[in-house]
Amino acid sequence: MNLKLKKQVFVTRKLPEEGLKIIKDHFNAKIWPSEQPPTKEEIIQNGEQCDGLVTLLSDPIDRDVIDHLPKLKVIAQYAVGYDNIDVKYATENGIIVTNTPGVLTETTADLTWALIMATARRITEADRYVRDGKWKVAWGPELLLGTDIYGATLGIIGMGRIGSSVAKRAAGFDMKILFYNRSVNEFTKEVEKITNAQSVDLDTLLKNSDIITLHVPLNEKTHHMIGKREVSLMKQGAILINTSRGPVVDENALHESLASGHLGGAGLDVFDEEPTKSTNPLLRYPNVVVAPHIGSASTKTRATMAKMCAENLITGLASKTPPNIVNPEVL
Ligand code: GLV
Ligand code: GLV
Repeated sequence: MNLKLKKQVFVTRKLPEEGLKIIKDHFNAKIWPSEQPPTKEEIIQNGEQCDGLVTLLSDPIDRDVIDHLPKLKVIAQYAVGYDNIDVKYATENGIIVTNTPGVLTETTADLTWALIMATARRITEADRYVRDGKWKVAWGPELLLGTDIYGATLGIIGMGRIGSSVAKRAAGFDMKILFYNRSVNEFTKEVEKITNAQSVDLDTLLKNSDIITLHVPLNEKTHHMIGKREVSLMKQGAILINTSRGPVVDENALHESLASGHLGGAGLDVFDEEPTKSTNPLLRYPNVVVAPHIGSASTKTRATMAKMCAENLITGLASKTPPNIVNPEVL
C-alpha cells in the first residue's frame, strides 16, 4: 500500500513487538522512542496529523490535547483503566476510546495475592533481614512473626473481574470473604454463589476484615474512598492492599494510621503520584510492601494487551465497532 494512503498513528511508548508489528503493518506509525512518557506538548506535536493514538495510563489525554489533534478518531488505551483520558470530551468530539479489559484480570489478581502474602508474612522485610546480615540466631520463636492468611476474613472492595478473580483464589486459604460493590448485579450474584462471598455495606466490610483489597476504577466517587474515617474503622492490625489506582486511597490517612500502629501493614502497587518519590513517608515503614505499578506485568499478558490494543485501533480506524470500546455512545 502506498504510504500516503495509510492512516497515521502515534504510539506513545514502545509496546511489546507482538502488537507493535501489527500496528506498523497497518499504519504509518510513529513510535515514541523513549521510556520516559512524552509531555503533553510532545503528544500534541507528534500526534498533530494522526488519526489514531495509542496511549498508556501515564499519558494525560485531556481537553487540551484533544483540542489540538483535529484528525483524531480513535484513542486505543494500553490498559484496562482509562482515568487518564477525558472520555466525555472525547465522546463529544466523536472520538472512539478503547481499553484492554479481561486479558489482564488473572495476572493482576496474581499480583494482588503476591502483595497479600508478602505483607502478611513480612517477606520483603525477611529478605532484607537475611541480606543485611542480621540473621544471627538460627531460629527465633518470635522472629518476624506475621499474620495468618489461612482462615482470615478478606474484604474485597469492587467486585468486578479482578475482584472476583482475587476471591476465587481465596478458596484455597479457607477465608471468609466479604465484598462491597456499588451495585448488586447478575455478575456479583454469580460470584457470591461460586465463592461464598458475602455482599455487605462498606462500613461492615471495613470493621470486619483482616485483609482489605481494592479493585475499583478511579473516578469522582472512588477518589479518596479510603480516607481517615474508613481507615479508622478498620480492625487493629488489618492489612490494606491496593493494586487499583493510587488516589483511591488518601495516602496521608494511611500514613497516619501506620504511624499510630493501628493498621498492621499495606501492600501497594499504585500511588497518588507515579513514580512515587523516594521521600514518600510510606516507604519508611518496614510493614509496607511496594511495587512500581506492575499488576498486569507478565510477559504473556503484556503481549496479549498489545495485540488487543492493535485490534481495537484497526477496527476503530476502519469505522467498525472495536471489540473493546468504552464509549459506545459515540457511534
Ligand atoms: C493498569 O493499571 C491498567 O489499568 O491496565
Ligand atoms: C477490571 O478488569 C475489573 O473489572 O476489575
